[in-house]
Amino acid sequence: MKIVAISGSPSRQSKTARLIDHAAARLAAQDIETQRFSVYDFAAEELLYGNFAADSVKAFQQAIVRADGVLIATPVYKAAYAGALKVLLDLIPEGGLAGKPVLPLVSGGSPGHLLAVEYTLKPVLASLKASEIHQGVFAVEQQIAVSPQGQASLADELRQRLDEAVDDLAALLRPAARLAAPHRGHDFISRTISL
Ligand SMILES: Cc1cc2nc3c(=O)[nH]c(=O)nc-3n(C[C@H](O)[C@H](O)[C@H](O)COP(=O)(O)O)c2cc1C
Repeated sequence: MKIVAISGSPSRQSKTARLIDHAAARLAAQDIETQRFSVYDFAAEELLYGNFAADSVKAFQQAIVRADGVLIATPVYKAAYAGALKVLLDLIPEGGLAGKPVLPLVSGGSPGHLLAVEYTLKPVLASLKASEIHQGVFAVEQQIAVSPQGQASLADELRQRLDEAVDDLAALLRPAARLAAPHRGHDFISRTISL
């Protein structure tokens, strides 16, 4: 089983990427591999000009095709998802998330923009035909502490929500396991936007 994680922050010290770190470790414990991408995997021109012929872009697209599910991590920037994430999403061909469950991971400076993912990111994921879109995990940046040595620690409440969401994603990849999993009340939701 393989997951592609798209890290949408342009920051080298991205706090949101710490959510991917934690998710990837938990998925690895369940024999699910995570392949990560961020804007740093591409030349700036390839992103800005949407160069579909670039080898890096083709590799990204192939990884998406082979993925069983997708993690999408983004900070809230200006009440929306990060522009760096949009240039990555724009590299995914039409319907490129068809058949793939998606778990959004979002961090923001305050809970004020908790719903940003609902009105900005989810319509894009739906347009890419993601099969199921989790309600997502929103972290306030203070819940993600990074030591001077670069070690991250997540607040207990956040870690619990993230673990549950990641387990929901993992269970979706194994339909038989999903049937046996207890319902947690914030399970994956079916795509509600029909295009
Ligand atoms: C350019 C910019 C715009 C931001 N806009 C918002 C915003 O509108 N709402 C909010 O809650 N946080 C906002 N923030 C705070 C970030 O969402 C927050 O610091 C986040 O954890 C950063 O994640 P990152 O380290 O992965 O980039 C903004 C930060 C930056 C740099």
